[in-house]
Amino acid sequence: MTRENTHQSSTRLKGKTAVITGGASGMGRSTALRFLAEGANVIVADFNQATGAALVQEAHELGFAGHIAFIPTDVAVEGDVQAALVLAVDTFGQLDIVFNNAGVGGAIGPLTQTTTESWDYTMDVLAKGVFLGIKHAARIMRSQGTGGSIINTASIAALSGDAGPLVYSAAKAAVVSMTKSAAVELASERIRVNAICPGFIATPLADGGKPEKTRENFSRAQPWPEYGQGDHIAGAALFFACLLYTSDAADE
Ligand SMILES: NC(=O)c1ccc[n+]([C@@H]2O[C@H](COP(=O)([O-])OP(=O)(O)OC[C@H]3O[C@@H](n4cnc5c(N)ncnc54)[C@H](O)[C@@H]3O)[C@@H](O)[C@H]2O)c1
Repeated sequence: MTRENTHQSSTRLKGKTAVITGGASGMGRSTALRFLAEGANVIVADFNQATGAALVQEAHELGFAGHIAFIPTDVAVEGDVQAALVLAVDTFGQLDIVFNNAGVGGAIGPLTQTTTESWDYTMDVLAKGVFLGIKHAARIMRSQGTGGSIINTASIAALSGDAGPLVYSAAKAAVVSMTKSAAVELASERIRVNAICPGFIATPLADGGKPEKTRENFSRAQPWPEYGQGDHIAGAALFFACLLYTSDAADE
């Protein structure tokens, strides 16, 4: 898969710049590679510097040098999120797409055992991180006047209850709620805000460090024989990233 030679690539995101939080692993990593193949410039904003550097190296080997940069980021820290988005403008001249995707399993276990510290950590990464991404993306996109696409990773956990991941589910429900409110508030400026609610996707987060268990676990949890993969979410993110309803289209 290279920019010049791949059956998967087209130019749907040519000249667009995307920031992907949690872009160094799992579905964020798949999306970074997919966006590059579609012609985008990509800033990978992630907590994990080792996997971030490995992805940049891989992207260079695939022919995307000059179209990707990594910035160490904690999405729970406002200054970090701001810095990642400003880096997109400083490096590539503009910001068009923000994928607020970073995540952790966070507090898992009986609610009676859940500490306020684990509540705070889970909500900080999963909910506050998305809030900060929307807030600062909207500020930059508004100042550019070009519209944009903000995509948030929620979860099926946002839509149904389950014993154990109470805080995770609450944080993801907050992501769905923030997405709806932000979509209404920013629509007049052609800034679109959408959420993706994945089911089980085979990533390091979901397999808990035991990839061999993934198929067995997933086949118990869902009726469809094949389990989801990062590439599937990358396809959904690409759908939302294509700026067909922004000023690009309106000007035609
Ligand atoms: N895998 C699934 O089954 C599944 C299902 C529904 C939703 N999700 C959500 O999808 C998103 C991506 O998860 P994934 O499955 O690809 O997991 P993953 O562990 O492969 O990737 C998550 C990435 O987020 C990064 N990250 C963690 N904390 C961070 C922080 N504070 N700041 C910046 N980066 C941070 C990690 O370093 C990692 O690179 C998460 O929001 C997760 O909650 C996953």
